[in-house]
Amino acid sequence: MTLFDVYPINNINIVKAHGSYVWDDKGVEYLDMYGGHAVISIGHTNEHWVKRIEDQLEKIAFYSNSVKIPLQQELADKLGKTSGKENYQLFLCNSGAEANENALKLASFHNARKKIIAFSKAFHGRTSLAVSATDNPSIIAPVNETENVVFLPFNDEEALKNYFKKNGDQVCAVIVEGIQGVGGIRVASSSFLQLIRKLCTEYGAVFIADSVQCGYGRTGKFYSHDYAGIEADIYSMAKGMGNGFPVGGISISPEIAPKHFMLGTTFGGNHLACAAAIAVLEVMEKEDLMKNAEEVGTYLIQEIKKIDGLKNVRGKGLMIGFDVSDELKDLKKNLLYKHKIFTGEAKPNVIRLLPSLTLTKNDADKFLTALQQEVSFLLRTKERASQSSAV
Ligand SMILES: Cc1ncc(COP(=O)(O)O)c(C=O)c1O
Repeated sequence: MTLFDVYPINNINIVKAHGSYVWDDKGVEYLDMYGGHAVISIGHTNEHWVKRIEDQLEKIAFYSNSVKIPLQQELADKLGKTSGKENYQLFLCNSGAEANENALKLASFHNARKKIIAFSKAFHGRTSLAVSATDNPSIIAPVNETENVVFLPFNDEEALKNYFKKNGDQVCAVIVEGIQGVGGIRVASSSFLQLIRKLCTEYGAVFIADSVQCGYGRTGKFYSHDYAGIEADIYSMAKGMGNGFPVGGISISPEIAPKHFMLGTTFGGNHLACAAAIAVLEVMEKEDLMKNAEEVGTYLIQEIKKIDGLKNVRGKGLMIGFDVSDELKDLKKNLLYKHKIFTGEAKPNVIRLLPSLTLTKNDADKFLTALQQEVSFLLRTKERASQSSAV
């Protein structure tokens, strides 16, 4: 049997990981500024996280949601406290797409409407409604095409006001990332998020804050939407929630009432997933990781801005992006193969940094030195090539 070939991959076999570092099968060490796609929140193989999972595994790994699972309540209590949403309700699932799928479905159950507003360059996952609300026609299968989703330009307040003015009574939900990740680290402005809040309240629509990538403390606040001083009706989350253990969820406002069987899951909220997610919140609190993300992230942004050749450095905390020009198109590849540093990207020309929230200033400096060296090298090489072709 072969593997279904859905990704272009690097020919590197990672066999060991700790903190912000990973090692391949030849013993080569890499600095992980990518966090396995924003998943590693408290650092690879964190001791407390490993122990919690191991201890749980010895007791019970799984039983169905037909019985009481007190670990779910323990997780809900911790999450409510850390996120400042103690009066919200938690529904647990297994991934980011599933979280958004349930959020959208719940919104529609709640107000019995169908129109979803999403934004240009949004990414919400690959399941049916989540992918329909994703602004990338190449990953939307014909069966997922629907007129129920409308895309408006991101951060365009006039377009949003106009749409609500004409169709407000049909709008079921607005779904928006606080900082678009796959879309290239595009930050939603505070006034845009405040307007979404205002219009959703006015017209009875549900405000869904997709926090799968930008949430869980990565930006220095628990949800990046918190920077706008607003409360969404539903927050979706996954990635950093389990530090690599697959777990997702939605945090639901008390205004939205549950009914039996409206949502459901076999694996969501299983004992092992809860143990992993509780360990993440415990470590985040003990090590004050949101503060670290804010401080080290601010430092990184400030220093990257000083490097000639990199443009539009942006982001918040440890969710950072910058544009690379054509001369620097090998930057990501060279950082990986020459400097042994993993980074992320967003097509066509954005480098994305999504490291663990435990990243130290020393590791940030190590990255900055390599980045500076490689940018200078590539620019010099390009300059020499253009001089010799002019001769
Ligand atoms: C903002 C956002 N929402 C949803 C998803 C989907 O998450 P998952 O891959 O866990 O289904 C992603 C994944 O990258 C994401 O970045």
